Amino acid sequence: MAAFWKKIRSDFPIVKKTLYLDHASAGPIAKPVAEAYAEYAQNHLNRADECWPAWVRRREEVRALAAKFIGAKPQEIAFTSSTSHGMNMIAELLSKKGGVLMNTAEFPSSSVPWLWRKARVIFQDAPHGQVPLEILRKKLNSKIKTIVTSWVQYASGYRQDLVALGKMKGDRFLVINSTQGLGALKADVEKWQADFLCTNSYKWLMGGYGGGLLYVREKWLKEMPPLSAGWRSIQQADRMDNQRVDLRQDAGRYEWGCPAFPVIFALGAAMNYLMQIGRERIEERILELTRQTRLMLSEADFEVLSSEYHLSGITVIKLPRAQHVARQLLSEGIYVSARGPGIRVAPHFYNTFEEIETLVAQLKRIRSKSASGLKKHAA
Ligand SMILES: Cc1ncc(COP(=O)(O)O)c(C=O)c1O
Repeated sequence: MAAFWKKIRSDFPIVKKTLYLDHASAGPIAKPVAEAYAEYAQNHLNRADECWPAWVRRREEVRALAAKFIGAKPQEIAFTSSTSHGMNMIAELLSKKGGVLMNTAEFPSSSVPWLWRKARVIFQDAPHGQVPLEILRKKLNSKIKTIVTSWVQYASGYRQDLVALGKMKGDRFLVINSTQGLGALKADVEKWQADFLCTNSYKWLMGGYGGGLLYVREKWLKEMPPLSAGWRSIQQADRMDNQRVDLRQDAGRYEWGCPAFPVIFALGAAMNYLMQIGRERIEERILELTRQTRLMLSEADFEVLSSEYHLSGITVIKLPRAQHVARQLLSEGIYVSARGPGIRVAPHFYNTFEEIETLVAQLKRIRSKSASGLKKHAA
């Protein structure tokens, strides 16, 4: 197995120059994704709209792949430009349907679309970015009609138990921001009883910037028409009838104008690549890297802030002057992020245990350097 992961590193030329542990900010693209971009560019350069029918077919293949990737049906998937875009489409449907429960640790993409629409948002406290379901359960009164949650919290790595949350939600809408999980962990909207999900393409999916997915449960497509529409939200859009508004039945109604083909194809290549490796295998590998990171850090006497029971691809280490530490690491070619009271480490499957050792060794060096600096200062 070690040989398998070693070989896969050749798909990520970034490893030659940097130690990249920042997939929670943005991932690199793998070689097959770069090839999808290049192929699209060649086709557009040489053939332009001669390719339109083939591009539309390819988009539908990617839609089917995306559905499989999250356990949905193709008609429940729309292509978007970002998590924020998807969340706005969801808030558009639900913001007037009663109270919305979320937690104070959510990334603003989860909250702003609801607040902007003046939805009745109730924020549950999330000390240290942790969102225990026992606390959430106590907040679930009859006024709450929607629960919004990230699958994995961006600043703590806390992975929500979505199967348990799905069982707990009752007749409320469950809305999932899967940005920090999808591509690293195996998703299943059916098992979660999710009603809506949104995500982007550029983090753990490693599909590059500009893309995203929106999932809308089929039942809600039937019952809730969107507030916004464009010419391609309409059935048989190519007839260009400007007097009719018979809406598409599927989630494609959220794709208002002509498709962002290169972005969709890149996302398709990324999901295809991840599926070939195997989503279970990727999840196991990432969780093993996380466990090893925790172990090496605790052996070196660093405090880990992330929960040991809700593991994801993200580990946050408590460190004074986190911004400064992140800059120091960067000067050594190590990419991590400063988040809140610490450093966020987010390896993907192609990273190695040796790379984590290198990170911890550098953290120890920075710590002892600043301790000796402090001593000198005090002297
Ligand atoms: C949980 C979460 N949601 C959303 C985003 C941002 O997504 P977008 O720019 O696609 O709206 C981030 C970025 O860090 C995030 O961590």
